[in-house]
Amino acid sequence: MKIGIPKEIKINENRVALVPAGAGALVVAGHTVLIEKGAGLGSGFSDAQYEAMGAYIAPSADEVWAKAELIVKVKEPVESEWPRIKAGQVIFTYFHFAANEALTLAHMVSGAVCIAYETVTLPNRELPLLTPMSEVAGRMAVQEGAKYLEKLYGGRGVLLGGVPGVQPAKVVILGGGVVGLNAAKMAAGLGAQVVILDLSLEKLRYLSDVMPANVQLILSNRQTLLDQIADADLIIGAVLIPGALAPKLIHREDLKIMRAGTVMVDVAIDQGGCFATSRPTTHEHPTFVVDGIVHYAVTNMPGGLPMTATLALTNATLPYVLQLADQGYQRALKASPALLQGLNIFQGVITHKKVAEAFGLAYRTAEACIE
Ligand SMILES: NC(=O)c1ccc[n+]([C@@H]2O[C@H](COP(=O)([O-])OP(=O)(O)OC[C@H]3O[C@@H](n4cnc5c(N)ncnc54)[C@H](O)[C@@H]3O)[C@@H](O)[C@H]2O)c1
Repeated sequence: MKIGIPKEIKINENRVALVPAGAGALVVAGHTVLIEKGAGLGSGFSDAQYEAMGAYIAPSADEVWAKAELIVKVKEPVESEWPRIKAGQVIFTYFHFAANEALTLAHMVSGAVCIAYETVTLPNRELPLLTPMSEVAGRMAVQEGAKYLEKLYGGRGVLLGGVPGVQPAKVVILGGGVVGLNAAKMAAGLGAQVVILDLSLEKLRYLSDVMPANVQLILSNRQTLLDQIADADLIIGAVLIPGALAPKLIHREDLKIMRAGTVMVDVAIDQGGCFATSRPTTHEHPTFVVDGIVHYAVTNMPGGLPMTATLALTNATLPYVLQLADQGYQRALKASPALLQGLNIFQGVITHKKVAEAFGLAYRTAEACIE
């Protein structure tokens, strides 16, 4: 199969969807790998390293999109890439369709087969292709939050860990999944007072076994959330309903009960965000202020840490890329229930219920589409 890796062109996105070793594994398996010139540079991989593994360096994105049967990317195709998509082409990447109607409609019109990393789901409900980036984003959320808590950036001017004789900062994390757990580990390690709120008692019980003593676990409801955010220094939004738009847990009026200079990092912004006042931002302009509260809502946080994130992502995606390439998408989707859950759009038809619900569009099951 011909597998194409375009250079990521989303703003300040430095990750690449395949590392040279991955290209080598695909070539050994008998496939052709076309990688756009310079695609790996942001993650520290030269064209020569890919060539040494047997990949073909394509001089332009047009050539990659025109020749490849399977496109493997990191982020959703941006608008300038939409005209390049061919009917029947398989695109394997993060899409987050429910947060973007125009993106969804464009991919329906394209006739492509869209398999979304973020909804590939194992039988135990784990999301194996979201997990590595959630690990990165959760840890990074604390680094970013600590930075924007500095007075210079509009923050309260509080050091997360405090110092002997001075109270540490309070970090409130909404959602105790992968992002939440990783954020809590970092914040607790720095000495902050950490609170995780989650809807799932089962999740809170698990976290109580693995978290240090400076992490408190509280069942989330409207009242407990308001109680916790009122004196928070840093709030991290890390909730997820797989495939769906994130629930808005902090309303505009809630900002009034918070202290000026509180920082809110909305990691869930790629699914629309869990704060009503969030809007997507970029690494170039990551923050904005509403009612004295600093908002950070970068949709591709791991893109800022490509040396770590590319390796973490491709460690997880390569087995699925190999499966799609070796078996073709139809057989691979039939053979792998996990991969089948990733199918969001099949040649013009939405195959993920939550995506269809987000826009009131028609839906057909993935199973029915690939029969
Ligand atoms: N911005 C970025 O760059 C970036 C990077 C990686 C992940 N993410 C996003 O971060 C979000 C979290 O991902 P994850 O891997 O941690 O998901 P996860 O499924 O592991 O965890 C989500 C948690 O949210 C909890 N939850 C759901 N609704 C809730 C509610 N109303 N109140 C409290 N808790 C609630 C769930 O019980 C679960 O524990 C996702 O939207 C993901 O796409 C963003």
